[in-house]
Parts: sequence; C-alpha cells; structure tokens
Amino acid sequence: MTETELENFDPDWLALREPVDHSTRSRRLEGLLAARLADRDRVRVVDLGAGSGSTLRHLAPRLLELGVGAAQDWVLVDHDEALLSRALAVPVDAAASVATTRVDLGDRDALSDVLSGADVVVGSALLDVLPAPVATGLVEVLSTLDPRPAVLFVLTVAGGASTEPDVPGAAEAFDADQRAHGLGPDATGFVAEAFAAHGWSVERDATPWRLGPSPLLDAWARGWFTAAGVSGRPVSAAVVPHEDLLAQ
Ligand SMILES: C[S@@+](CC[C@H](N)C(=O)[O-])C[C@H]1O[C@@H](n2cnc3c(N)ncnc32)[C@H](O)[C@@H]1O
Repeated sequence: MTETELENFDPDWLALREPVDHSTRSRRLEGLLAARLADRDRVRVVDLGAGSGSTLRHLAPRLLELGVGAAQDWVLVDHDEALLSRALAVPVDAAASVATTRVDLGDRDALSDVLSGADVVVGSALLDVLPAPVATGLVEVLSTLDPRPAVLFVLTVAGGASTEPDVPGAAEAFDADQRAHGLGPDATGFVAEAFAAHGWSVERDATPWRLGPSPLLDAWARGWFTAAGVSGRPVSAAVVPHEDLLAQ
C-alpha cells in the first residue's frame, strides 16, 4: 500500500470510542507487561498507529498504577500528522515525555529506525487495518531488535459482531469488506502466527465491546451497516468482538 492510499481516521470517531476502549483493554495482559517492567528506571514506549493518543492517555497512568515507577518516554507514530498533533494537545495523567513522528508502517527502514531501542511497542485498533505484507514486515522488523521489546497490540477487530435485533448476513458482509481492505478479523491470528514463527511467546485475550444505547452504538452501527452494504436500522445493543495480544 502506498502512502497516498492510506486511510485517514475521523478524530471524532476515535474520541467517541476512547472511553469504551480504555475500559475494555485486557487488564491481565497489562499486568503481565507491568511485571516485566517492574525493575526498570526508564522505559521507551513506541505507539504504532497512535492516532490522537488514546493508548498514551490510558497506558501511561495505568503502568504507574500497576507499580511501574520508571520514567516513560513515549514516541507516537502515525502517517497522519493531524491526528498526531491532537495527541500532543491533550494532557496525560502521568509524567511522561512525548514525541511524535510521521512514519508509514509499510516503510521498513523508517520502522526499524523508530523501533530502535524500544522497551515496549504498543498498537491499538491497528492490526486489522494493516494489509498482510505490512503486518508481516512489522513482525520481521520487531524480531530483528536486540533486546526484543514487549509488544502489546490491543482492540484488534475479531469479526462476527452481533446486534439486537439480529440483522442476518450483516456480520459476514462486514467482515468480508474488512478483509478487502486489510487483515480484518483475521489479524490477531495472522500476527500471532508470525510472532510464534519468530520464536516469540504470545498471549491473547478476548476484549469485546458490549454496547448499549449510546452515541458510540449509533455511530458504530451506521458505519457497520454502510460497510456491510445493508440498509441501516435501529439497534438497541451490540457485541463487537476484539482481541488483545501480548508478545514477548
Ligand atoms: C483505528 S485508528 C486507531 C488510533 C489509535 N491507536 C486509537 O486507538 O485511537 C488506526 C490508526 O492507525 C494509523 N495507521 C494505519 N495504517 C498506517 C500505516 N501504514 N502507517 C502509519 N499509520 C497507520 C491510522 O492513521 C490511525 O491513526
């Protein structure tokens, strides 16, 4: 995928999903990550596809809560400069240094540079939008790092969403549309296999959104029906499967 074909994500959509994303992320995998960092004085965290900084706002204070006393140096990476500038505008509830850099994750040399020296690599709502060659390249570059960082990819779409009332065929149509644009619902399995092939140990947790009536449900349902090519209709609830993955 060339730089010009990369999708720009709506900042209002990212803001709407942020509170639900924060409460959905796997606490177990965050605990495993924190345990690994317990004796560190300083950690360099690289957030890939950082967008407007949701992961920074969640994970920097969360690591502190989990007893990680290390100074945190964050590097937020995205191809979308406008989203990155939003990330810098929002305060973070933890003492962390924050830098941003514009990189296309399909550019292996640039990726290698930005990942150099990372202790932790994170990505949220990212893997499913990546095409297979970009995800493969990412795992390959991560596997060249010495020492290897811990890698936490969270909130990857897992497919098979359901709504109340049920809309027959919509989930299959939506998942097919996702697969036409990237790894879609196959992403976590694909990336887990790639990590395992390079000798990483991988843990996965299901992290579904369970949405009741809310602006997020309305916005999600609009996007879901459109992508599925199904005429929209009111839904009162939805379960949207996601998955978190920790590789180390
Ligand atoms: C669904 S958004 C998630 C943003 C943020 N992580 C969050 O959870 O709110 C996916 C992000 O990945 C970025 N992205 C997708 N493909 C990329 C690529 N090839 N290179 C750099 N960034 C990319 C997008 O610009 C977008 O900010």
